[in-house]
Amino acid sequence: MRSAEFETFAKINLTLDVSGKRPDGYHDLVTVMQSISLSDLVTVEVRDEPGIQLVCSAPYIPTDGRNTAWRAAQRFLEAARLDAGLSIVIDKRIPIAAGLAGGSSDAAGVLSALNWLFPDRVDHDTLFAIAAAVGADVPFCLAGGTILCTGIGDVLAPQPTLAGWPLILIKAPFGLSTPEVFRRFCLDQVEQRPDHDAFLLALGRQDWPAMSSACGNVLESVAFAMHPQLRAILNRLAETGTLLARMSGSGPTLFGVFADVHTRDEAFDALANLTASGFTRYKAETVAGGPRYLSSYEVPVLPDFSDLPGLLT
Ligand code: C5P
Repeated sequence: MRSAEFETFAKINLTLDVSGKRPDGYHDLVTVMQSISLSDLVTVEVRDEPGIQLVCSAPYIPTDGRNTAWRAAQRFLEAARLDAGLSIVIDKRIPIAAGLAGGSSDAAGVLSALNWLFPDRVDHDTLFAIAAAVGADVPFCLAGGTILCTGIGDVLAPQPTLAGWPLILIKAPFGLSTPEVFRRFCLDQVEQRPDHDAFLLALGRQDWPAMSSACGNVLESVAFAMHPQLRAILNRLAETGTLLARMSGSGPTLFGVFADVHTRDEAFDALANLTASGFTRYKAETVAGGPRYLSSYEVPVLPDFSDLPGLLT
């Protein structure tokens, strides 16, 4: 019996633009995604009995083929031509339905653990193809860091990494369904589209004022129309001295980037009364890289002593 444990990270979208709609209903995106230190713990254990079992610390999360982590495991076993059984345990700490890619990061954690447990069975391109097949954000979560993502979010162009920048995340007391936000999206309603040329130029210099003026998330138009208080809270957050403040992905989580921990901590305290209306604040920071190896164990197969006379009397 062998197992591997990985820490797998949430993401925020520093920018997000929709450039078109595909016949399959998915949208073409241009988005700069950033890994952050909010994380889940994913443990994968290889068992002799076939089948994939998944256990998650959070209730109401499907533990069968509806779960992206389960599907990632199944596709990996198929691609690697393995008939091993797997037991997957997810310790969920990333908020759910929050626009932080929690489910996608779990799938990336499973793929990282399986790739560690079965090295060289699946090549790099196949691993990323499996990731893209189970969810648009999974390839990003697998690579991690600071990445310009195009296609449906699955075509990755790594950028200079932004690591260690302090953040505040504000999670609403309600979730938003990603398919519904995309379904309601209409370009005519967008106030500010990001200017990616300017943003990427500024990113290379870590010029936050220029990044802040060039950024934008077109899905804010949908989320703010559904829940106007999100706009008011984003404005409050931006007034606490952020370098850049936006909604992440399809929402409803809002984030602010700060120049240093002291300013971030002061802003965190200044936003304390948001908890009275059910909003949750998190402190985090930007991180480089994808899922992080934590530990592994191997239970040795004991020799069979049963035919030694006298031993089992
Ligand atoms: O691939 P994932 O499961 O993360 O996407 C969830 C849903 O979000 C999709 O079913 C689709 O409705 C929407 N989506 C989209 N365009 C994208 C990514 C997601 O329309 N590029």
